[in-house]
Amino acid sequence: MSTEQLSAAIESAYRRRTPRSEALYRRALQSLPGGDSRTSVFYQPYPAFMSRGQGCRLEDIDGNTYIDFLGNYTSLVHGHAHPGILAAIQTQAALGTAHGAPVELQVLLAEALTKRVKSLAQVRFANSGTEAVLNAIRAARAFTGRPRILKMEGGYHGTYDAAEVSVDPGADPPAFPLGRPEGPGLSPGLTGEVLITPFNDLDRARDVVRRHRAELAAVIVEPMLGAAGMIPAEPEFLGGLREITRECGVLLICDEVLTFRLAFGGAQELFGIEPDLTTLGKIIGGGLPVGAFGGRADIMACFDPRRSGFVGQAGTFNANALTLAAGLAALELLTHDAITRINRLGDTLRAGLQDTLSRLGIPGQVTGAGSLAHVHFCEGPVRDYRSAAAGQRTVWRWLHLVLLHRGIFVAPRGSFVVSTPMAEPEIRAAIAQFGDALAEVQPLAVAPALTALA
Ligand SMILES: Cc1ncc(COP(=O)(O)O)c(C=O)c1O
Repeated sequence: MSTEQLSAAIESAYRRRTPRSEALYRRALQSLPGGDSRTSVFYQPYPAFMSRGQGCRLEDIDGNTYIDFLGNYTSLVHGHAHPGILAAIQTQAALGTAHGAPVELQVLLAEALTKRVKSLAQVRFANSGTEAVLNAIRAARAFTGRPRILKMEGGYHGTYDAAEVSVDPGADPPAFPLGRPEGPGLSPGLTGEVLITPFNDLDRARDVVRRHRAELAAVIVEPMLGAAGMIPAEPEFLGGLREITRECGVLLICDEVLTFRLAFGGAQELFGIEPDLTTLGKIIGGGLPVGAFGGRADIMACFDPRRSGFVGQAGTFNANALTLAAGLAALELLTHDAITRINRLGDTLRAGLQDTLSRLGIPGQVTGAGSLAHVHFCEGPVRDYRSAAAGQRTVWRWLHLVLLHRGIFVAPRGSFVVSTPMAEPEIRAAIAQFGDALAEVQPLAVAPALTALA
């Protein structure tokens, strides 16, 4: 079978399994552009529409069931409809969801976070990781009086304009420290505002920070590049960034929206660093929309509404009672033991996926840490955006559909996320199905011309 025939066969099998999703997608095309309202959940030929989530299981509107290794892009650390979180939501919903006034829960969740994360003296809440990042950057600019930020190539920090530079710049990006805005419609002048440096390249980062210290408000970094494929920072990289930013009086913003789940005090605890500001989101909302940002009290003081010239951070649903209640319940459930358990399952998963690649003789690297994993189809080690982007990325388009067929729901870009309702059987199932799916798409996985199918 040619690669074209194989990909066509995969797509028709998907269509046969999901006729209701196809019909609903066609209807969605009338009222939603491209039938879509969230870029990251769209995939070709159309996404399966879900009807139900329970624990680590999902069911689509055609009745197909899946083990959920996406967890709403890592945010559902306790799976769907966890009884404890559900009870907290139900109790709070009956008391009101958003009161247009502060509630005690905001103090409780702020205390829970500041107790867990050493560098967080104070926090504020928002409705998404995007807003957390926006406000952290704003705080850094307000505090330092400087305009520019430095971010990593391949770093994803949500959809605030200043974060939308060189997330996935593709082949032939401009020379560092210039970046490439992600698409049309972004604020003009972004290239001057946002400087770019490669992840895990400390020498280059040091050089850019030193050269631009007079205009640089902050360096923003994820402890693990998430969207670029779960690529962990090398300890000396994060440690070195901490040193150079401190030396130059530039703030360090650690974006833990995705990595907070890796340890009780977030990934920064694992790396032993104390950033000036931290952004949070995803799991701290117990499955509801959330963001938070915080750090040094002297920096966060710029939001103090009693001060003249304070930085405003309004938001109709900031710190709404429902999210706070769900988030508090989720954090209470995310004990040291729970984190250790999912991290171990993640270790087993990564080892099993890597063994599968070796057994089939398919060049590939499984990256990640703790409960997070990503499969890259490439020969060499993956330590930054470019080494990941040099891999064979298109195979995931087909592998993803085959995995869906086999009841494994993963990120279409190739990430697997472990949640607390999972145990060994789910991990074994994912490894086994990955092996069978990979055997099925093997000609696509090893075909260098695959990009032609994109
Ligand atoms: C590291 C990181 N920062 C920020 C964001 C943006 O969060 P949100 O999607 O809640 O706006 C994400 C989302 O995936 C993320 O992974």
